[in-house]
Amino acid sequence: MMSDAAALERLYAYPATDRPWVRSNFVSTLDGAAAGTDGRSGTLGGDADTRVFALLRSLADVIIVGAGTARDEGYADFDVDSELRARLGLAPVPAMVLVSHTLDIPGALIAPGNVVVTAANADPSRVAALRETVEVLVTGDEEIDWPAVLATLADRGWTRILCEGGPTLHGELIRLDLVDELCLTVAPILTGGNAPRIARGHEGVDRPMALGHAIEADGGLLTRWVRARS
Ligand SMILES: NC(=O)c1ccc[n+]([C@@H]2O[C@H](COP(=O)([O-])OP(=O)(O)OC[C@H]3O[C@@H](n4cnc5c(N)ncnc54)[C@H](OP(=O)(O)O)[C@@H]3O)[C@@H](O)[C@H]2O)c1
Repeated sequence: MMSDAAALERLYAYPATDRPWVRSNFVSTLDGAAAGTDGRSGTLGGDADTRVFALLRSLADVIIVGAGTARDEGYADFDVDSELRARLGLAPVPAMVLVSHTLDIPGALIAPGNVVVTAANADPSRVAALRETVEVLVTGDEEIDWPAVLATLADRGWTRILCEGGPTLHGELIRLDLVDELCLTVAPILTGGNAPRIARGHEGVDRPMALGHAIEADGGLLTRWVRARS
């Protein structure tokens, strides 16, 4: 049963903390696929997932997304709930932070206000070209220094972090134990095939999570899991 708007806002409120809180948001099939047969995730979620996806964006200071997902999912402009953001004292729109080594960023996202995060070994000419339009944050020599990125965002008051993936970026944040919360829609679908899971990387780690809530919707589940830190 889907909750009303006020109840959903309470269920997905960020905790009151002045440190960065990293929430990731994914949809997965019952057999663990993070993409449908079209190679995208949007086709997996129903109306309830779409609604929560939009709410999570509206609650965030910043949306972090891997360039792979931005390319595969055709990221572009998006709408947020202006009334909700004003009521919560948030900026009119969240900042979109794009993560990339190659700096192959979709043209629609090379727009003032967006931020590109990369490492120091990125192509300097591409960095310079992007800097004509967007801010490029360079941290770490060969790999992005995520604690430094989060500290920089927090210095701007951006502590409500929403990571929309994809699996490569998510795997890296999990490896570093930087994911505080996972919002996962479980879609009532079996798909087989060889789609990625919601996280991948070179090495496995154990990061226990505790169930925050599970709501039945569209025949599937909207779940929220919080990192169980001892
Ligand atoms: N089920 C879901 O909710 C969901 C959510 C998101 C995505 N997806 C699906 O996942 C698939 C894409 O998977 P993916 O693993 O390729 O996604 P991804 O993590 O968004 O993309 C990987 C690319 O993003 C950049 N990137 C990610 N982490 C980085 C890091 N730590 N440092 C530097 N660059 C980094 C790199 O871009 P460059 O190549 O530009 O260097 C890398 O090649 C698609 O099928 C998409 O639909 C599903």
